[in-house]
Formats: sequence, C-alpha cells, structure tokens
Amino acid sequence: MKDINQFTITQAVKDSFRTEEGSRFEQLLHGLIEHLHDYTREHQLTHEEWMRVLMFLYDCGKISTPERHEFILLSDVLGFSALVDMINSKGGATEGSNLGPFYLDDAPRKALGADLSDGRDGVTVLVRGKVTDNLHNPLPGAIVDTWQADASGTYPIQEQAQGQDKMDLRGVFEADETGRYWYTTVLPKPYTVPYDGPVGELLRAGNRHAWRPAHLHYIVRAPRMASITTEVFFENMEYIDNDAVFGVRKSLIAKLRPVKKGEDLGVTTDKKPEAVVDFDFILAPEG
Ligand code: BEZ
Ligand code: FE
Repeated sequence: MKDINQFTITQAVKDSFRTEEGSRFEQLLHGLIEHLHDYTREHQLTHEEWMRVLMFLYDCGKISTPERHEFILLSDVLGFSALVDMINSKGGATEGSNLGPFYLDDAPRKALGADLSDGRDGVTVLVRGKVTDNLHNPLPGAIVDTWQADASGTYPIQEQAQGQDKMDLRGVFEADETGRYWYTTVLPKPYTVPYDGPVGELLRAGNRHAWRPAHLHYIVRAPRMASITTEVFFENMEYIDNDAVFGVRKSLIAKLRPVKKGEDLGVTTDKKPEAVVDFDFILAPEG
C-alpha cells in the first residue's frame, strides 16, 4: 500500500490515469488536477465548502435543459467564455465575443438592404460595413449571419409561447462583390442573462447585476478564412463598462449616430433608417 498524503496525492491521481504521454488530453487533465489540488490546499477547503461547490454544480445540472445551459452561463459570468474567446481571437482579425444561447444555424437568407425588424417598434438603424481579410482585401460573397434582441431587450425565440416567430430579428446576408453588407433593423436594448437559477444566486452573492449592454450578434465566414463569432456594441450605452458576461472589447464598440437630413447613405434599403452604425469585419486566413 502506497503511503499517500495531502502532498503526494496529486502525483498519485495523475499517475492513475493511463493517458497517452504528452498528449493534449494528458496535459489538460494533469493541469486540471494540479490546479484543483493546489486550490484545495491553498484555501484548506472544509467539508462544508467542498459540499457547497458540489451542490452548486448539481443545481446547475438540475436546471439545465437543451434550451437552458446553466453551465455555459456559469462559464460566461466567470469570464471563462470570454477568456477562451480572447485566447482564440486571431491577430489582425476582428476580436471574438460571446455566442450566447440564442443562435440558430438555419436563419433565413435575406437580401442586402432588407429590414430585420419585422414590424417591431423602435429606432430603425442602418447597419453597414465591409468584410475584408487582414490585408484589407474585400471578401465578396462573405456570409454575415446576425441575430439580436428587440427594443425591449427580448429575443423573439424567448417569446415563442407568446406567439413570436423565433426566426424574427435574424438573417443571413451575402456581402456584395466589393465585400459590403448592409441592412436595417431595430435598435436593441440591454437585457439580463437568466438569473432565476444557481448562477443568479452566485451573482447576488457577489453583489453583481445580470445585465448585458445592447448588442448585435454576428458569425462572419468566407471560404479559406477562419470564421469569427462576435458582437457589436454601441458607444456610451448603458452597461457598456460592466457587461455581466465580459463580452465587450474596445474594438467591438461602434458609434451610433442619427442620419442627417438629406444624407446620402450610399445604399438602398427597404426601410428608411433614423440612425447609422458602421462596422467592418476582418477575417484572417484559416490555420
Ligand atoms: C447573449 O448575448 O445573448 C447571452 C450571452 C450570455 C448569456 C445569456 C445571453
Ligand atoms: Fe445576446
């Protein structure tokens, strides 16, 4: 019988896994064991604290459904998701940010200049820009897939029981031959991440709020380029400095400005915009 104590247990646990030496799996698993054990020794965890952590994770699992991922929300409020986004953003490309839980991979294709508001009230904004590579070459035909909340901070997918169409306020655009995209939509409002579960309890325990600043979500892709998942925020808007999920990056904040009287916006739109947001996307090559 090996003599095992609170200092030798870490190596013993690592050795107990028969992983391929030097593999990525082994590195990640060994790192996790080391950090978990170091944390436990450093804070001299009590049985009560240990059980509290396990019950918290149990509660996260209990409330989770295919539509409600409490563990992803936990990752979001701990800045874990944002950290992974930051690490995996490619230099020279638009920075990545939260995917969030409301993406649908089968949103309808829309023509450039279409209006996404589906008759909803709110400020009509023209969103326009170009998609280029990191050497400023346009990427004609790039796909700009977008989704967002409405002017009350709700995603239509959250209100299907109230008769809303989950495909509203989303669309897939194909950039024109110069890499340009444009459409109109309704200006979204801030909203809260779900806080009626264990993650909400954690936020309250830490005196934190659950609000996210208003934003537009995007996945942008083009052949042979690494696709980006990101968000665009609006300058000076509420919660821009304290997003509950740490999604805001300086480079992702756009200026929202009113359309000037008689201004030539250079594009044709189905609906007359009251405000404009310009945002360019930069994709880096794959690999
Ligand atoms: C969102 O941006 O849609 C979102 C992100 C994290 C948690 C909940 C919602
Ligand atoms: Fe969102």
